[in-house]
Amino acid sequence: MSDPSTESVPARVRSDVAHNARVWNYWLGGKDNYPVDRAVGDQVTGMYPSIGEVARADRAFLGRVVRHLAGDLGITQFLDIGTGLPTFNNTHEIAQHTVPHSRIVYVDNDPIVLAHARALLTSSPEGATEYIDADAHHPEQILRSVEPTLNLRQPVAVMMLGILNFVLDTGEARSVVSRLMDAMPSGSYLVLTHPTLELGGEGNEEAMRFWNEHATPPITARSRTEFAAFMDGLELLDPGIVSCAQWRPEPGAPAAEVAQFGAVARKP
Ligand SMILES: C[S@@+](CC[C@H](N)C(=O)[O-])C[C@H]1O[C@@H](n2cnc3c(N)ncnc32)[C@H](O)[C@@H]1O
Repeated sequence: MSDPSTESVPARVRSDVAHNARVWNYWLGGKDNYPVDRAVGDQVTGMYPSIGEVARADRAFLGRVVRHLAGDLGITQFLDIGTGLPTFNNTHEIAQHTVPHSRIVYVDNDPIVLAHARALLTSSPEGATEYIDADAHHPEQILRSVEPTLNLRQPVAVMMLGILNFVLDTGEARSVVSRLMDAMPSGSYLVLTHPTLELGGEGNEEAMRFWNEHATPPITARSRTEFAAFMDGLELLDPGIVSCAQWRPEPGAPAAEVAQFGAVARKP
């Protein structure tokens, strides 16, 4: 485990149970993880060898989407729920590199992400970043906390990458998304990624079962139909719902399919 110092780590951190934010960090090549995270991460990789590729494809998708939203579509406000541990190309870095006055609110409920939040708060002088320690199951709590960093009368990109899979009940997950999007004005965007057993992800079934017995929080995969329903009432941007690796890949870059849906949709 690198920074933070032990005294800044909140008391609710458990180093004896693998946590998703830390295992995700391990799969991305980061150092902010414990032996238990690496052990579970390796076991999952043994059952589902492409998981590291999924994590990297998800981050690359994040980068392409934020650049497109800020650079081409004029979005300067981002609500990034299920932030993960700070890594390369965090949302605020990409957004503020593209448009320096971009404003970002990060939300996660992992105590280690909280301990590292300072690294997420290095805003450009023209913009702003904020970190909220909150649970995605409680969207009203998030919405109460986003202002004044975000102005909810102006469009916002709501980003939920790799997090709805931790809201196990599909009806509840849909309700979380619609309560958040109902609070956003026309011209806002919803950005999602989600693991699936489709797109060649069948091997993830055993790995997810293992995860749910040995790690936290428990996870679920979803079908294309379930994923599409999160965007009901919104307008999907091209190319629609695809493997996140194949959402507008960089010209000339290989874009092998990974079993993680990605999509961006606009609120009319
Ligand atoms: C798979 S990581 C994805 C990180 C980042 N969004 C990305 O795409 O690289 C999921 C993140 O969601 C967070 N998370 C899981 N359940 C959550 C919940 N109920 N509320 C808030 N954050 C949650 C985890 O702590 C973790 O940081």
